[in-house]
Amino acid sequence: MKNNTITTGFSRLDKDQKIDLVASQISDPELFSTTLHESWHRDPAIQKMIDEFSENTLGNYFFPYGVAPNFLINGKMYMVPLVIEESSVVAAASGAAKFWAEKGGFHSEIIGLEKIGQVHFIWNGGYDLLTRFFPEIKRQMIENTGSITSNMMKRGGGILDIQLVDMTEKIPDYYQVKATFDTRDSMGANFINSCLEEFADTLRDFASDNNDFAPYRLQVIMSILSNYTPNCLVRTWVEGEITVGGHNYDDFYTDEEFVSRFETGVHIAQVDMYRATTQNKGIYNGIDAVVLATGNDFRAVEACGHAYASRNGEYSSLSKVEISGNKFRFTLEVPMALGTVGGLTHLHPLAKLSLELLGNPGAPELMMIASAAGLSNNYSAVKSLVTKGIQKGHMKMHLLNILNVYKATDDEKKHAVEFFKHEKVSHSAPTAKYALLKPIV
Ligand code: MEV
Repeated sequence: MKNNTITTGFSRLDKDQKIDLVASQISDPELFSTTLHESWHRDPAIQKMIDEFSENTLGNYFFPYGVAPNFLINGKMYMVPLVIEESSVVAAASGAAKFWAEKGGFHSEIIGLEKIGQVHFIWNGGYDLLTRFFPEIKRQMIENTGSITSNMMKRGGGILDIQLVDMTEKIPDYYQVKATFDTRDSMGANFINSCLEEFADTLRDFASDNNDFAPYRLQVIMSILSNYTPNCLVRTWVEGEITVGGHNYDDFYTDEEFVSRFETGVHIAQVDMYRATTQNKGIYNGIDAVVLATGNDFRAVEACGHAYASRNGEYSSLSKVEISGNKFRFTLEVPMALGTVGGLTHLHPLAKLSLELLGNPGAPELMMIASAAGLSNNYSAVKSLVTKGIQKGHMKMHLLNILNVYKATDDEKKHAVEFFKHEKVSHSAPTAKYALLKPIV
């Protein structure tokens, strides 16, 4: 803000009024206004729907929508849609997918599909009294959520279990109702939160209606799903003979040397938190891109994965390498709560088409696809890191961004791309200019 005045009534302004007001904060108000107007979808009905995803919407923020072909997962071939702004992620996914497709592809299995929600409450009547009545409270919770769960139950899901958890060692008088859910093909956040709020009402009502509870106080503090879903888990791996050859690492190392360096590289991420964070970031380059392309919640997926990476008390790599005899196996085990129905999945025009491109998978199949995208990026990144280094390939992919900064024409870009096939790319102006002037060799 140019000054510190508090803005009031902003949400009540119409879209153009909001743009004008915000534009007045920018050095070139007209540019701001035009850029936002030009970002609108040409179909006003679609634009209105996108506006309504959020609040105070002024326009759309563009991200590239790309596709990585050749993802062979459990014998089925996919073209995987990826929404990502970082150069080399789609190339990394495509390169690894093609490489492994020729060696049997990705193998993937679902370890669990359980979601979790909690009612956090304070109760000064002690654990024994609560446990005595908990079976009845639980029965009422299930009964009172009947109207919320009936449809989910018809689809084979619903409430799996409701438990009482004593947390008084951490905070005096603090307990939880911890429930597990099967939300089938929906991510399930709204379903779980609705159930939890009903559980909370049931708990409150029970406490106020029961004579044994009368001398004590029960306060529900909050009811919310947990984004930590360690039992909503997928395992995906690639495997092959060490000496299979063609690992595509610049012919610098033998197969055995490459595999050994790769194993050490991943091992380092298992024991060093700094490296683990970067390696896991690379995994989420692939996962988030699929999560975004299919209209899912990438914050939930990332938060969960990073918590899972710390489950043994120290943040570590989500992937591991196993070498047994002549066999190399590279595995990613990652929790994620995804949906293929509900939320934005069938509202966002491209999310809906992404799902169609993937053959309209259910949530478990989408977990396998997203994890394969994560593993493919991890494979490509570690492969480059332990051989020729990351910058060569990365900067090649980033070259177009650099050339765009210098407003290169299509022709100049063609020349530059050709030139830099054999030259090191850097951000420096002379490098870029030189490339632009250089004729094709
Ligand atoms: C860059 O976005 C991701 C990498 O840093 C991942 C890694 O280091 O493993 C290349």
